[in-house]
Amino acid sequence: MNVNCLGYIGIASEQLQAWQDFCSGFLGLMNVSGDDDALRFKMDDQAWRIAIEPGDKEDLSYVGFDVRNGNDLATICHQLTTLGYQVEADQNLAASRDVAVLMKTTDPDGLQVELYYGATENSEQVFVSPEGVSGFITGDQGFGHIVLYTGKETEKYQFYTEGLGFMLTDTILMGGQLMLTFLHCNPRHHTLALVSNPAGNHLNHFMLQAASLDDVGFAFDRAHNLELTLSTTLGCHTNDKMVSFYTQTPSGFDVEYGYGARVVDENWSVAHHNAASTWGHKRPTAAR
Ligand SMILES: [Fe+2]
Repeated sequence: MNVNCLGYIGIASEQLQAWQDFCSGFLGLMNVSGDDDALRFKMDDQAWRIAIEPGDKEDLSYVGFDVRNGNDLATICHQLTTLGYQVEADQNLAASRDVAVLMKTTDPDGLQVELYYGATENSEQVFVSPEGVSGFITGDQGFGHIVLYTGKETEKYQFYTEGLGFMLTDTILMGGQLMLTFLHCNPRHHTLALVSNPAGNHLNHFMLQAASLDDVGFAFDRAHNLELTLSTTLGCHTNDKMVSFYTQTPSGFDVEYGYGARVVDENWSVAHHNAASTWGHKRPTAAR
């Protein structure tokens, strides 16, 4: 049994004002923050998809996976406990995440992983991008994707495949030495990728998939106008064919803003690549 999709992420940061400006003014997300001290941003019918909470880690602090219903939640929790992971119900946390039922565990690197069903959809509060983004590809593909560092490659792979039911999509060997492993749980080419850990943090980057190439072009212009730090130029990835660019977030890790990724189906054959990009994704000296 596999999780349905990546539903939301939580980021800890001391840079709340910078994140508010970044999410609204660059990413084009809708600020739906409440009365507490967290920032929350909406990008589709789901109540929220990204939360920024005060903290000094400047890193991903939790990740939420939708598991469809109670039967699937029970099966996935059983898969995790069979592997030796402790899973705990937390109804207070469920309420704060706007979901009906939530179980939490921690992955091999100590990242809090939340499994839930019953996410609040509030389509009556229509997503309107403050920057005119036409939309984001979510639905059965979930929020987007995350790339996680790990110092425990074998345990991490087992946790996400045997525990959460992810399936191998493909691998990329970058520069002849850095191996990236791409995993899917729905038609999105990868919801999760794993890379060996040179930094000690959890998050390498997260990705938002816009609905049009123009959305990416306008975001690229906003990054220039806001004088954000580009991490790459525009480029096209070898494996998912996403056209995207990378920008440094206020916490130091990157966000990928892309369009046009291909999807996987039941006939997908696992592949290997020796480069991450077909073209582009260069250091941005020529683009600034
Ligand atoms: Fe990515």
